[in-house]
Amino acid sequence: MTTAVVDQIVVLFNQHGNSQYGGEAVSQVEHALQSALLASNAGLDAAEVVAALLHDIGHLLHHLPDDAPEQGIDDHHEDLGAAWLARHLIPEAVEPVRLHVAAKRYLCAVEADYYSRLSGPSITSLELQGGPMSPAETHDFERNPHHRAAVTLRRFDEQAKIPGLATPRIEDFAPLLGQCLLERTL
Ligand SMILES: [Fe+2]
Repeated sequence: MTTAVVDQIVVLFNQHGNSQYGGEAVSQVEHALQSALLASNAGLDAAEVVAALLHDIGHLLHHLPDDAPEQGIDDHHEDLGAAWLARHLIPEAVEPVRLHVAAKRYLCAVEADYYSRLSGPSITSLELQGGPMSPAETHDFERNPHHRAAVTLRRFDEQAKIPGLATPRIEDFAPLLGQCLLERTL
């Protein structure tokens, strides 16, 4: 199945996905495809694989520089991406995207060694994003029905930074994207 929205997402990655993934050793499209592959290999459902694929789409929608965090700028890409996706995709594919930054702040608060395993760029952006959650914030986060999916996505996000890893192409995920479209966009 292909629709205008799926085509638009594929074009977005093909046109802008070769930009650097925020100081990491992979491009935006490599990072997205590795995240989706990890989710797929873990046997997750279509919405979770699509969320993994699209979690950083906000980076492709703004015109800030790749090194915005190094310049002290929080691009709020999770909100930008989720707002765009919510017009087209089911909540199960959108909400983990909205929460994936919050999930990093959450994991840094509840897992003793999580912070120490973050990459340098991820630590830089964490500070701009508010740092580890307070106890009250972790409590609120756990009440969100999508928080577990966001935490699972976050773990893949952290791993999906392997230079040269072979993955499927963005076009290969079109059928899964099609499964996550809102009824009215079909
Ligand atoms: Fe990411």
